[in-house]
Amino acid sequence: MSEKKARLSFEGSDKTIELPMYQGTLGPEVVDVRGLTAKGLFTFDPGFVSTASCESAITYIDGAEGTLLHRGYPIDQLAEHSNFLETCYLLLNGELPDKKQNQDFKESIRYHTMVHEQLYNFFNGFPRDAHPMAIMVGVVGALSAFYHDTIDIDDPEHRRLAAHRLIAKLPTIADMTYKHSIGQPFMYPRNDLSYSENFLHMMFSTPCEEPNISPTLAKAMDVIFLLHADHEQNASTSTVRLAGSTGANPYACISSGISALWGPAHGGANEAVLSMLGEIGDETQIEKYIAKAKDKDDPFRLMGFGHRVYKNFDPRSRVMRKICDEVLAELGVEDDPLFRMARKLEKIALEDDYFIERKLYPNVDFYSGIILKAMGIPTSMFTVIFAVGRTPGWISHWNEMLSSPMKIGRPRQLYTGAKQRDYPAK
Ligand code: ACO
Repeated sequence: MSEKKARLSFEGSDKTIELPMYQGTLGPEVVDVRGLTAKGLFTFDPGFVSTASCESAITYIDGAEGTLLHRGYPIDQLAEHSNFLETCYLLLNGELPDKKQNQDFKESIRYHTMVHEQLYNFFNGFPRDAHPMAIMVGVVGALSAFYHDTIDIDDPEHRRLAAHRLIAKLPTIADMTYKHSIGQPFMYPRNDLSYSENFLHMMFSTPCEEPNISPTLAKAMDVIFLLHADHEQNASTSTVRLAGSTGANPYACISSGISALWGPAHGGANEAVLSMLGEIGDETQIEKYIAKAKDKDDPFRLMGFGHRVYKNFDPRSRVMRKICDEVLAELGVEDDPLFRMARKLEKIALEDDYFIERKLYPNVDFYSGIILKAMGIPTSMFTVIFAVGRTPGWISHWNEMLSSPMKIGRPRQLYTGAKQRDYPAK
């Protein structure tokens, strides 16, 4: 840590406060404001957008440059040369696995793919038309009921086991929510298949028929999981950390992350892309909707364009765009009116000054929405798939937090309510 200090001075007073400053391996310097509380001051930062809530060595994002690194490795290199499970290992352990570690990790995940038979009973309590995310929140939280003998969060071995169980069981539970919604029997996981093949098998197979899962679609699914694996201190990850800081068990923490992800401002955006394409209707309406998106007095926005952090092409979008082309070609649906319309929209937005000046590039949700739709996955499952992909990120952050001394998360406030007053006499 550097010796550099920031000095805070106050108008109309000679008082100054010195605050230590730190420089990470990458990214902006940070001012350590922890000492302010003892001096009777808090900082004000609604949404924590200017606050580093923790020290972390997992993921680095530079939105202006369009950079996303996991443990130092660029996301596009991981998408090209790695796979989801290897990236899970990297996020959890800090380094890429050697051959044996890779094999052992894959075997451990395979070993844990089944869920307890009694967990099936939970599904009977959910209505057929329940949103899959509602079931995910409940069932993932309920996993803790089955593993109460291995949820000592101070025991690294218990934490490792919880991490493996969550990564292994989330696809099984996710696909059970889908089968429940369409009234088909749950499919058991098949451990001879890869992680993403198994996910597609549990979603699309029935006891009567096992469809052929093409390598292109399995690869696309794997890359979708990989590209969602972590995104540093976003809303759901921060939720997992905050819940975890209380000492809550890992299943409860991941369930809280799933709840936070459910919101349309976070995980629900790819669903919104499909709704928007439905609203536009057909190619002849595109110009009208582009004009609406540019109109300050019209609340309509082009869903799947722009990003709060990336003010450059989101590096994940480039990868997703390529996968999108491959999937549409494989399925022979490039000429489907919906996908033609999406392509036209993309082209216009990329060439239009309004979008260029504001750096509104197609984001990862634009392409993932199209890919998942083309694969025949219903939109209500899109956020569930995001949750499966994000699980290694959540659990890595939870584990990182618990691996070093930590405090319960407790933000403060700028109180603007009534001053103390006496209860009126009656
Ligand atoms: N369509 C049309 N105009 C847009 C869009 C859009 N999708 N996004 C931003 N703008 C315009 C704004 O009107 C504003 O214009 P102005 O400067 O003339 O006032 C300018 O671009 C900047 O907009 P902000 O809202 O300040 O940008 P911000 O970075 O805060 O918002 C956000 C980012 C919320 C993602 C926004 O681009 C948006 O709503 N996009 C559509 C929804 C979407 O795809 N969300 C998923 C993002 S990915 C994720 O979060 C997982």
